[in-house]
Amino acid sequence: VTGKPSENTPSTSSSSPKPIVGGLPWAIALNLYELVSFGFQGWWWRLHWAVYKGFRNLDPGELVRERRGDDPGELSYGETPGIAFSRLIEWAELRPGDRVLDLGSGRGLVPMVAALRGYRAAGIEVVEEYVLGARSVARSLNLEIDFRVADMLECDWPTAELVLLNSTAFPSDFRKDLLIRLNDLEPPTRVATYDWELASDNFQQIVAGRLPVTWGSVFCRIYERVKE
Ligand SMILES: C[S@@+](CC[C@H](N)C(=O)[O-])C[C@H]1O[C@@H](n2cnc3c(N)ncnc32)[C@H](O)[C@@H]1O
Repeated sequence: VTGKPSENTPSTSSSSPKPIVGGLPWAIALNLYELVSFGFQGWWWRLHWAVYKGFRNLDPGELVRERRGDDPGELSYGETPGIAFSRLIEWAELRPGDRVLDLGSGRGLVPMVAALRGYRAAGIEVVEEYVLGARSVARSLNLEIDFRVADMLECDWPTAELVLLNSTAFPSDFRKDLLIRLNDLEPPTRVATYDWELASDNFQQIVAGRLPVTWGSVFCRIYERVKE
């Protein structure tokens, strides 16, 4: 886990997360939790093996340090494990065949879990190395996923019923620009944020709760874009 997601955690809200330190014990606990929940399902093993093989020579920590040194900002890296994203899918009440868009998709785990669970999936990611790896892993799993190398603030977004923002570490200026883009989404798109309360009348919160992530836990809010 790279970066300091906790630094941008809103500290004023009583529902804000108090991230716990990640590290090896947490990684082991998370993997055991997933193993118990999904270990009897073939897709989980296939995914983990393919991601291990596809990314064993790529260290996100190194990539982020090369680009941003000690101030990673929105490039801070941490992932949404399959167990957390599966819960998020339930909370968002996705229907079979719905589309999921991960803005800042990193190594592509979220779109891959979505595709393996029967949803159409896309990911937008600014770091090309992650996207090249994600495309190759998806190919090895026979998954058709629309992975794009692009800046989420600048590019067009493919239509989706659920947009995920692993936003804990997104700095406030970045969030401000992103909110302008989110306001352009069509109702009733659902948007999931981590540790970010959307200050906009265009979004109505439909569910919220804590989810485990690779660096600890986040407070996830799911909103629906409502008609103005
Ligand atoms: C915390 S990681 C989340 C990875 C993944 N979404 C997950 O939840 O497992 C955030 C990702 O957003 C990417 N990112 C940051 N700024 C971006 C931008 N302007 N456009 C696209 N991706 C961006 C980072 O490179 C990083 O991979």
